[in-house]
Amino acid sequence: MNCDHIGWTEEGHFRYLDQTRLPQEEKFCEARTVEDVIEAMQTLRVRGAPLIGISAAMGLTSAARTLADGAFTRDWFEGAVDRIGAARPTAINLHWALERMRDAYESAARAGGDGAALIAALHQEAQNIWDEDAAMCLAIGEAGARLIPDGATVMTHCNAGALATGGIGTALAPVYELHKQKRRVQVISNETRPLRQGSRLTAWELAKAGIPVTSIVDGAAGAMMAQGKVDLVITGADRIAANGDTANKIGTYGVAVLARAHGIPFYVAAPCSTFDLAVTSGETIPIELRSPEEIDAAPGAVGYNPAFDVTPAEYIAALITDRGIIEPPYTERISQLIPKGASSSG
Ligand code: MRU
Repeated sequence: MNCDHIGWTEEGHFRYLDQTRLPQEEKFCEARTVEDVIEAMQTLRVRGAPLIGISAAMGLTSAARTLADGAFTRDWFEGAVDRIGAARPTAINLHWALERMRDAYESAARAGGDGAALIAALHQEAQNIWDEDAAMCLAIGEAGARLIPDGATVMTHCNAGALATGGIGTALAPVYELHKQKRRVQVISNETRPLRQGSRLTAWELAKAGIPVTSIVDGAAGAMMAQGKVDLVITGADRIAANGDTANKIGTYGVAVLARAHGIPFYVAAPCSTFDLAVTSGETIPIELRSPEEIDAAPGAVGYNPAFDVTPAEYIAALITDRGIIEPPYTERISQLIPKGASSSG
């Protein structure tokens, strides 16, 4: 799948495919204000860690462009960065992208640019972030494809495919790479309760690309492993700590524990922008709590709805990154391979 789910309108506004409507309907929306960008992120119309970062950058540019002459001030810019940065707490790519936008603004301001020059600098940096993400996805695909035996069945959780990035995805990138090489590969896509990113989005994009995909409910993952139907697991990540602990969609931890119990390798695929070297372990990664209304709790019951969980590094067979494969022990190897400047804590 090409990255045709985001783009710029002719006037330079951020245009995106509304992922809440998939698979029933392919509806595109535009974000023209800071409020539009925040709403799109919080409702998961745009979602997935890398895409959250790209959407923040493109949406910020769009919002600056919408302002009346004279309203695009430094105060407005700093407020907009802070407000968009608070939209979702777990994916570190959001802060990584906004830091880059802040740097782009500062360099253009130092060069004495007027409002139009500042907006042009923001547009260029947002485009760079998108282009670099697409290149990182390709590199993850090439590195990860080497870990997958011919004819293998890959289980994945949530959606870490093209829809979650500006390219061919992270967890699904090795699958797309194998498909491109005309090698046999198939995917088991876990439903991913409560918002069903696996059954709605992963299954949709793989089927569209002609890759065999089987959708299962989350509770079937263990049985599929016990029956020998899973060769390996690859998931994406929202934030990877300096020791390799990884936050990803709720349910990922359970899948990792099941994989360990069945002797199946569990891999995490992510670009440099998902590493947060300032966080030493998963314990301090902020976990988004979403509305209990998303889960069908009976009236009178308390609904508790954490959107992410942390998989301890000891369950992860390797990290598949755009800089290559990182095997345990992680702390030293992550610090060697992921340069501070390229990660989110740079
Ligand atoms: O709540 P979401 O849909 O944004 O959660 C997405 C995930 O958990 C993905 O697995 C993760 O962001 C990696 S996307 C390449």
